[in-house]
Amino acid sequence: MQTVRDLATLRQTIAGLRGNGERLALVPTMGALHDGHMALVEAARRRADRVVVSIFVNPMQFAAGEDLDRYPRREQADVRMLADAGVDLIWMPDAAVMYPDGFATSIRVAGVSEGLDGAARPGHFDGVATVVAKLFHQVRPDVALFGEKDFQQLAVIRRLVADLDMDIDIVGVPTQREDDGLALSSRNIYLDEGERQAAVTLPRALGIATRAIESGQTVDAALAQASEMLVAAGFAVDYVALVDAETLGRPRPGHDRRLLAAARIGATRLIDNVAVRAEQQG
Ligand code: PAF
Repeated sequence: MQTVRDLATLRQTIAGLRGNGERLALVPTMGALHDGHMALVEAARRRADRVVVSIFVNPMQFAAGEDLDRYPRREQADVRMLADAGVDLIWMPDAAVMYPDGFATSIRVAGVSEGLDGAARPGHFDGVATVVAKLFHQVRPDVALFGEKDFQQLAVIRRLVADLDMDIDIVGVPTQREDDGLALSSRNIYLDEGERQAAVTLPRALGIATRAIESGQTVDAALAQASEMLVAAGFAVDYVALVDAETLGRPRPGHDRRLLAAARIGATRLIDNVAVRAEQQG
């Protein structure tokens, strides 16, 4: 396994990896890897001959005052995990390689980027779309894998790839969870013991609301109940919302739905989401 930090070596190494037309997968990450990322790597190995993992804490997707400076960085441990998982190449540029002096381009994906986390974190998805487009141009993968935990990010990337005619299969991989249901996240490390115990209310509230909606309770009542559970557990709620799973707009009869939530416990902002069965038509 090779770790590469500059573009010239990346291009040369990618050309070598492709060799005889081998299929290449990219798993974009910001490092601080956990079993959720390793599930992406496993899924990548099933879909491609060669697996590239990028590690880059992307400053462009953090707003002023967010956790860019304290975002966990664990380079050596990450490299060991990826070597054990049989990854072929780690692409680990620094900010000066990704955003050299004079960098002036930003990609905005309208619609799917705008509500939910897009409203709570203005500019966040522009930063994600821009860096992911750069990673796609640099690595030129056949397939790229993203966790469903960042469900809106996945929708933004699907739209980006469709709109810019990028010939890349985008694969969403189900959220990996702790035994008690908490979604794995690099940010869980910020939680103290009390916050960690309270954090499990997030998946529980989503589960209860999902069952209520699927059994015919009104959506508004189910969402209000989920918010109340979160507040009672000590969360400040950004949103709890039921949306169309593809457009992230209003649910459409007969189409898959998704229940998404974002809430803060102490200084930590957690997100989670679950599938909700489509409402029957007519
Ligand atoms: O999900 C992440 O870790 C990041 O948003 C991504 C996709 C690597 C872009 O920086």
